[in-house]
Amino acid sequence: MSDSITAEPVRPALEAKNLYKVFGRNPKDAVARLRSGASRAEVSDAGTAAVIDASFTVAPGEIFVIMGLSGSGKSTIIRMLNGLLAPTAGDVLIGGRNVTTASPGELRTIRRESVSMVFQHFALLPHLTVLDNAAYALEIQGVGKTERRERAREILERVGLGDRAHAMPDELSGGMRQRVGIARALTAGSDILLMDEAFSALDPLIRREMQEQLVELQRELGRTIVFITHDLNEAMFLGDRIAVMRDGRIVQNGTPEEILTDPANDYVAQFVQDVDRARVLTASAVMEPPHATTPLSAGVRGALRTMRSQQTGALFAVENRRLVGVVTDRAVIRAVKSGETDLRNIVDSRPGAVPTVGPDDLLTDIVETAVEATVPLAVIDENRRLLGVIPRVTLLAALGNVPATTREMPIIQTPIDLVAEFTPLVDQAAGVPEPAAPVAAATEGSVRS
Ligand SMILES: Nc1ncnc2c1ncn2[C@@H]1O[C@H](COP(=O)(O)OP(=O)(O)OP(=O)(O)O)[C@@H](O)[C@H]1O
Ligand SMILES: [Mg+2]
Repeated sequence: MSDSITAEPVRPALEAKNLYKVFGRNPKDAVARLRSGASRAEVSDAGTAAVIDASFTVAPGEIFVIMGLSGSGKSTIIRMLNGLLAPTAGDVLIGGRNVTTASPGELRTIRRESVSMVFQHFALLPHLTVLDNAAYALEIQGVGKTERRERAREILERVGLGDRAHAMPDELSGGMRQRVGIARALTAGSDILLMDEAFSALDPLIRREMQEQLVELQRELGRTIVFITHDLNEAMFLGDRIAVMRDGRIVQNGTPEEILTDPANDYVAQFVQDVDRARVLTASAVMEPPHATTPLSAGVRGALRTMRSQQTGALFAVENRRLVGVVTDRAVIRAVKSGETDLRNIVDSRPGAVPTVGPDDLLTDIVETAVEATVPLAVIDENRRLLGVIPRVTLLAALGNVPATTREMPIIQTPIDLVAEFTPLVDQAAGVPEPAAPVAAATEGSVRS
């Protein structure tokens, strides 16, 4: 994409504009009636409205997932995308070229060079080796034997089948065969991969592995992928964006997070109820605005006032919006008693004093940190600017799909912390006014012992 360097918007890899597909006796009539508001059922005398007014764009390098129940129109859409089916109305543009109005010759070129399909049943040629199966698309393109085998071998390495190049298809497991199917699509060198239920026939563990591998491959190779599935967890894991279909219509088109946290209607909400949220939601999607904070310049007295008004036992200390550390109520009280006024001297800014996470971290990757933390997680950007906080209750609510917002920053004390508090010897022995180190140690002890 030569124009991606300039400020101009990148041309979509793929566009669907107001696509309709009606199977049956009188498709055009059905479309006219659908356009003027008739429902799918109302036009059933004229035909089956498989796809109704579907529009979307797919950016280069994106994984776009089309999800919906059986019969919702997913395969019909994908077949229109690669020109296997002609739309009853609407347009498909691939790299800006209109597939719908292309001549049969142009269409063949587009299909051969720009788009590859991967199906649920991988349709390997049983009499060809893995290598020649992977090279098959190139054979059709007329690429010479040496070159196509070389390119196929490279792709087989990438999908982890380098050592099976000379095996026959029936010597492979289902997962391996599917990887050969993907290798074949990748070897073709096309920019766009259309995958229709490509992993649905695989058993769950292999399926998960394939999903991870696909995301990795996509990152390495930057292909554009349209992936069809009726499995929501798969959709959420793979999709940069997801179109949810119902009865031929796209009822929502958004990022996995948008669909989870802001479903367009009850249908989508019900659909997403059982999603494994931890694998989808990121810290930025669940974080809350940081209220329990104090600028260092507020001094010890200021921090004390904020704690009282926020009814909390700890504050995040910030300077120029950057996170410096944490101040606890005990440290503040001690400072007040001893005449210390500078907040800087009582902030615990040691690494690890505040558990921090990045905005794009998945919940599944921050749960462990949250479990061990005594204060809410701080969400910070690469410049340590405090973007938000995630109290443990917020995290649990997000994972359980329970709406909850908190305004306070409850410091989570284990009983052992309190024992430490009431044992003056601990402080004296430690020789520091702030018992944060014993707190951390005590927490760990209480969890692990
Ligand atoms: N060639 C055809 N002739 C008539 N009806 C068709 C044809 N292809 C699909 N349909 C109908 O169009 C609707 C959408 O089918 P489609 O195959 O697109 O669904 P899907 O979402 O891919 O479902 P699945 O998850 O079962 O694969 C269904 O009602 C189906 O019966
Ligand atoms: Mg289908």
